[in-house]
Formats: sequence, C-alpha cells, structure tokens
Amino acid sequence: MSASDRDDDPRTELGRLAGALEGHVRRTRARGARRTPAPKRRSAPPAATKEPASAPSAPAAAPQPDRRAAAAPAAPRVDAGNGRGPADPRTNADRLASPAAARAPHASVPAPAAPAAAPRAPTPAAAGAKDSAHAARVAAVRARAAACSTLEELRAAVAACTACDLCKTRTQTVFMDGRGTRRILFVGEAPGAEEDRTGVPFVGRAGQLLTDIITKGMGLARDEVWIANVVKCRPPENRDPTPVEKELCTPFLDRQVELMDPALLIPLGRHAAMHVLGLEATMGAMRGQVHTRGGRPIVPTFHPAYLLRSPGEKKECWKDIQKAMELLGLPAPRKAGI
Ligand code: URA
Ligand code: SF4
Repeated sequence: MSASDRDDDPRTELGRLAGALEGHVRRTRARGARRTPAPKRRSAPPAATKEPASAPSAPAAAPQPDRRAAAAPAAPRVDAGNGRGPADPRTNADRLASPAAARAPHASVPAPAAPAAAPRAPTPAAAGAKDSAHAARVAAVRARAAACSTLEELRAAVAACTACDLCKTRTQTVFMDGRGTRRILFVGEAPGAEEDRTGVPFVGRAGQLLTDIITKGMGLARDEVWIANVVKCRPPENRDPTPVEKELCTPFLDRQVELMDPALLIPLGRHAAMHVLGLEATMGAMRGQVHTRGGRPIVPTFHPAYLLRSPGEKKECWKDIQKAMELLGLPAPRKAGI
C-alpha cells in the first residue's frame, strides 16, 4: 500500500467526525455526566490501494432469470432504529432501479424496512445543481449514458468522458470488472492508484479482501459477480470525490445498473451506500437490513478497506453477505473464510 492510500488518509471527514466524537465523549465523561449517548457505529471511508491486477473481464453476462425465481424468502430485518421515515422517493436509488427490476419477481423479498436515516439533505452540490451550467453538464452526461444500449458502448462513453476535472489527472477510466453471471453487483466509491494504473476496480489491498469475500466467503469465482464504482476516475491524492464529481459521474453508474439489471446490489461503505440508497446516513443506520428499491434488494455492507482496519467487523460483514446469498437462493457457507 502506498502512503497515499485512501484508507490511510487522516483528513477524511469521518476521521475528523470520529475524533470529534471521541473528544466529546472524553470531555463528557470527565465532567461525570451520566447521560452521555452511546456513540453510533460508523463506517470508515472507502480506500484505494495498489497491488497487481488481472486483466478486466468481458462484461454483460447472459441473464439468469432462474436465479431470481429461486430467491429465498428474506429473514426478518434488523431495524437500525432511529425511527425516521422512508427516503424521499425521488432519489438516486430510483434512477438505479430499472423498470425491468421493478417488474422482476421479487415477491419473496419483503417490503423495504423504513430506512433508518433521513432523506439526503441538500448539499452544496445539490444547490450547485440548480446552477444551469452544472445542470446542463449533468443532463449531457445522462443523455450520453442513456444513448448507450450495451455495457460496451457505455464503457467507451466513460473512457471518452471529460465531464469533470478528474479526467485531467486520471491514467485511465475504471469501468467495471466481472461477467456477473450471479447477477450480484458490488459498488465501491472510486478507483485508487492501482485501479487507475490497471483500469480494473478493487485490485489493491482492499480489492484483495473483496476478492476473498467473494471467493473464500461466498464460494464464487470473482468474475461471477460485477464490481463497479460510483465514480469512474481516480480522485488525485486519493481524496474523496467531490459532490460535483459524483453528480457528473453517477449517470454512468445508473445506466450501468439499468443495463446489467442485477438481482441484488451490495454497496461497499458509506459513500456507495448513500448513493445507491439516496440517503444521507451513517453506515450503522444503513447496514444490517435489506433495503429494496424498484423491486431490487440492496444489502449495504462495510467497505473492505474499513474491514482491513477493523477486522473485528468482518463477522458483521459476513452476516450481510449471508443475507444477500439467502435472498438470491444461493447456498451460503456457514463459515466466513475471510
Ligand atoms: N476502493 C473503491 O471504492 N474502489 C476501488 O475500485 C478500489 C478501492
Ligand atoms: Fe467523466 Fe466520471 Fe471521469 Fe468525471 S469521473 S471525467 S464524470 S467518467
């Protein structure tokens, strides 16, 4: 891992929040206060790492409707319990849910649990979206993505994209990996150094752990799933992508999801989960339950880079993975193997 790996970056917002929270708890304890709230569990931001990679696989697997039909009934959900209402229905998640998914036979997947989070609050980028120039650029990207009728066309459109400044510093775009024959899509945040070098998502240290989750944990070959990111170009210095960059790039992910029509999505880490679910929330509030958007189950779990730093959370991740496999009617190994 390089010094610039995203998961080691101390300047992340969550790092600062966690520090502030710890300081607050310490100060409150010192004052002997008895009403200190229990700190909420939070995820760490995604990270990119650098290690050798395999060549990208050809995308676009043939659909396997039998898998869907075989989806097993979901187990009871865990309500993260903040008591807030469901997300704004006009969210990114609705754009992610294709009409085909809405028609898909997910009757065995129960109605979504009330998301334990507030609808996404307006961000500076959302405010910026009102700016007509920005809105026009987002609309242009969306139109370019919509014009693509295959994943290969979309891959080419992404490779040619210069919509945001990340195009100036990238080595290449990072579109996706896997043939997705199991119709499972993992979504990370953005490529890191090694992904930028190879053009393949999740090939660094965090990527190796994701590969272990898929192969040793789920008992699948890595190319049986799809792996993609919210943002397709590496943010320099491994910083988080800005809201503007995310707004400009997410039409590509949304179209990717439409074209793949996955049976189930597993967003990795808070940033991907917030985009896929269209929520502004902590990871603790989003994971531990099955969300459904447009008939498509969504099982958020921790980012592998966070699991590298907090291996004690692997058992929670494993619960999420077992739940996802159960929803798809896949045999879930009892032992995690990660
Ligand atoms: N982290 C991510 O979120 N995506 C990658 O592709 C690599 C690391
Ligand atoms: Fe285009 Fe996305 Fe790359 Fe920005 S990050 S240049 S929007 S592909």
